[in-house]
Amino acid sequence: MHKVTVCRKAHFNAAHRLYNPEWSDDQNSEVFGKCSNPHYHGHNYDLIVKVSGYPDPQTGYVVDMKKLKDIIHEEVTSRFDHKNLNLDTEEFRRVNPTAENIAVVIWNLIRDQIDQELDLKVILFETERNFVEYPA
Ligand code: NI
Repeated sequence: MHKVTVCRKAHFNAAHRLYNPEWSDDQNSEVFGKCSNPHYHGHNYDLIVKVSGYPDPQTGYVVDMKKLKDIIHEEVTSRFDHKNLNLDTEEFRRVNPTAENIAVVIWNLIRDQIDQELDLKVILFETERNFVEYPA
């Protein structure tokens, strides 16, 4: 038997502001630039969720795509789509919503919903050219 990776794409729009509350406004804009704009800005986030494991001998599935789709919808899309991450979500009330931190939060939310013997990786695109992968 060979391991196979099953991938599912998802998309959400969200606003954020990169900001370290321990720093002055000047320090924040020096480090985060336009991303620290006090009035927030939006991104079209693209998410790829990768689940790896051995296909089940009965079904031939690593994971049921329909279930994976529902998990992503419930845990990620419905939670973050059209939200202001800093103001509207519990997850980023005290966590700076960088692409790195968003990817880790998403991984944790999905991880609990997927069989423990399966490997999970998430790739999050913040722009067409900038994306992060977790775990590294
Ligand atoms: Ni940004």
